[in-house]
Amino acid sequence: MQGITPDIRKRVDELRNEISRHNRLYYIDAAPEISDREYDRLYRELQDLEAKFPELLTPDSPTLRVGGDPLEQFEHVEHAIPMMSLDNTYSRDELVDFDKRVRKLLGGRDFDYVLEPKIDGVAVSVRYDDGVLSVGSTRGNGAVGDNITANLRTIRSLPLRLGTASPPAVLEVRGEVFMTKSGFARLNEANREAGLQPFANPRNAAAGSLKQLDPKVTASRPLKFAAYAFGELIGESVATQWDFLQRLKEWGLPVNQFSKRCRDLDEVMAYYHDVLARREKLPYEIDGVVVKVNDFLLQAEAGIRARSPRWAIAWKFPPHEERTRVLDIEIQVGRTGALTPVARL
Ligand code: IVH
Repeated sequence: MQGITPDIRKRVDELRNEISRHNRLYYIDAAPEISDREYDRLYRELQDLEAKFPELLTPDSPTLRVGGDPLEQFEHVEHAIPMMSLDNTYSRDELVDFDKRVRKLLGGRDFDYVLEPKIDGVAVSVRYDDGVLSVGSTRGNGAVGDNITANLRTIRSLPLRLGTASPPAVLEVRGEVFMTKSGFARLNEANREAGLQPFANPRNAAAGSLKQLDPKVTASRPLKFAAYAFGELIGESVATQWDFLQRLKEWGLPVNQFSKRCRDLDEVMAYYHDVLARREKLPYEIDGVVVKVNDFLLQAEAGIRARSPRWAIAWKFPPHEERTRVLDIEIQVGRTGALTPVARL
């Protein structure tokens, strides 16, 4: 059999770069440059070369997205920096209190906020060493989570290698794994047809998909990822949440498109109502907006509580309004002869 020549190595590299680039164009930028058929051809060529020369297989190869062997159980991973959660509120008054509190903590100095939609999914942490995805984990208890690397690798919009020539030495990126409303509907339809129990909502479906010990099952689920925070970050200096979000995009990580900088509470309120008005039309579920102090030095000054930062809050939307149809109105006759109309919904 023919050995590995420099030409073969070069071709494998080329294919990986091309496939990753097209993945990004397709799954993140929604601007594909080639047809599905051309993509499949590149993919198959790489698969064939890797099958022929297994020594060339690397952990960041896009062919690994289909999912590897099933696990017996998940190992535990300690987060280098704990994963915090957010304080939340449903009330405008409490948001006003939050703003007052933060202004006081920051000694009356001027600052701005970054606002982001609060995607209703599952929080995960994904570690990149020298730009290569090494470990992915669930939040767990905040300090220790489950190692779900094999499952996360199957998510097409999560890059296996950061799209930059000078990646940070370490990046622990935090974000949300979620399912679109349409992906969820399709999955449930298929489940129903197969006689399986449907999932209650997209978040449960995403959580259930990440809990699979067989990554091939996860690979078959329509999962997406959106990045919004970091844990450990070495070899990169960034001063604000806003700049960090821009950096994430440069690195090829998917970021929600509706984030916004706001200078004061009026702008925060306007953003909240704007996003609330878009809510039903968005292709994924959100359950509020997250308000964060933009400047990282000011965040550090504001500090944290036991499990959540003082510099951020989740302002949640009211529970969904659902539409139902009145199918029939029955008149019930009580013992005393009283008539009570009862709607069948
Ligand atoms: S920031 C230190 N930003 O909401 C702050 N969280 O308890 C860390 N979430 O566990 C979280 N969208 O699962 C942040 N744009 C966003 C988010 C977001 C959704 C989730 C996340 C977190 C929970 C809050």
